[in-house]
Amino acid sequence: MHVSPVLAAQTTYPFVRIEQAKREAAERGVEIFDFGQGDPREPTDPLIRQALADALTETRGYPKAEGLPELRAAVAAWIDRRFGVEIDPATEVVPTYGSKEAIFSFAQVVVDPASGKDTVLVTEPGYPVQERGAAFAGARVVHLPLREENGFLPVLEALDGETLARTAILWLNYPNNPTAAAAPLGLYEQAACLAAEYDFLLASDEAYSELWFEQPPPSALQVADRSNVVVFNTLSKRSSMTGYRSGFVAAPRWVADALRAYRPTVGTAPQEFVQRASVVAWGDEAHVERARAVYVRKRELLLGALEAIGWRVAGSQATMYLWVAVPDGETSEELAVRLLGQGIVVAPGAYLGPSGEGYVRIALVPTVEDCGRAAEILRGLE
Ligand SMILES: Cc1ncc(COP(=O)(O)O)c(C=O)c1O
Repeated sequence: MHVSPVLAAQTTYPFVRIEQAKREAAERGVEIFDFGQGDPREPTDPLIRQALADALTETRGYPKAEGLPELRAAVAAWIDRRFGVEIDPATEVVPTYGSKEAIFSFAQVVVDPASGKDTVLVTEPGYPVQERGAAFAGARVVHLPLREENGFLPVLEALDGETLARTAILWLNYPNNPTAAAAPLGLYEQAACLAAEYDFLLASDEAYSELWFEQPPPSALQVADRSNVVVFNTLSKRSSMTGYRSGFVAAPRWVADALRAYRPTVGTAPQEFVQRASVVAWGDEAHVERARAVYVRKRELLLGALEAIGWRVAGSQATMYLWVAVPDGETSEELAVRLLGQGIVVAPGAYLGPSGEGYVRIALVPTVEDCGRAAEILRGLE
């Protein structure tokens, strides 16, 4: 029996372990409040669901990799409204099947070891898909730690010339999962300048761009020269549409062309009825504002409880996460196990990368009512 050595070398996807511990607690009869995984459980807006249902009758045949013109136009119009950046819907937007598959496969499309471009830079702690995609593409992965003393931003000045020369992709993810930090436009400018100088792509995973609390965060698309900038976004978090699988890549034309050449082989175009529902989702901000208001409420409830028991919140600027410092004397896994004993599931920071040790991630996904009940349980801890 043979499996890919890259697959064999992968450690268990962290949430598999959390799921197992959760099942064990549930079997003991503990009521579970699941703040573990970032899968929004808010209902998808009725307007969007209706658009999906209405489109069912029209659907026929394989969806095309380039996506419906209406969807590309809706995405470009949203980017213009939200970030003030004009992109060409015909050539610079590629609809994707959620953003995960596009993030995973990106290294396969642009890593070119024969030309010396064999390296992918990823930040850690982080969403594991960038790194795994790079590994399956045979790329060398270099980790950039996100540390609290740097505002959970990577220190790009620390990269040496040799590494930069070998770099094919620099991945950034802001607002960041798991640290809940937002990036200033300056970080994107700095990264885009390096990308132009050393001939690599800045790939910006902006899945959480719409889940913010005080100020809407910028996009890497807003840099002065975006010729080396590729942005990945999704309706999953913005519109609570994880199950629909709908996102996009916005990229310079040559990158979008490469994606259009690659993607039909993989078969990852979103279904046409999902694309039609997505047109409605990108076109409406009212449901996003309502969703943000719900996250504000949940965040307040949890922040209040954490403050009351003296736990320090290291990150809560944006995203659906709180990045909470582990009290002295415990590891992140020990704290997660202790909380699981009370029915509260969180993600140990160490599962998300070595620099995540010392923190746990709380995903604000249970209902407001359950967040309130969990907050009461937290208040009962010392
Ligand atoms: C940082 C980050 N990027 C991308 C995704 C992918 O989301 P989707 O494939 O649902 O668009 C996630 C999902 O949790 C995420 O946390």
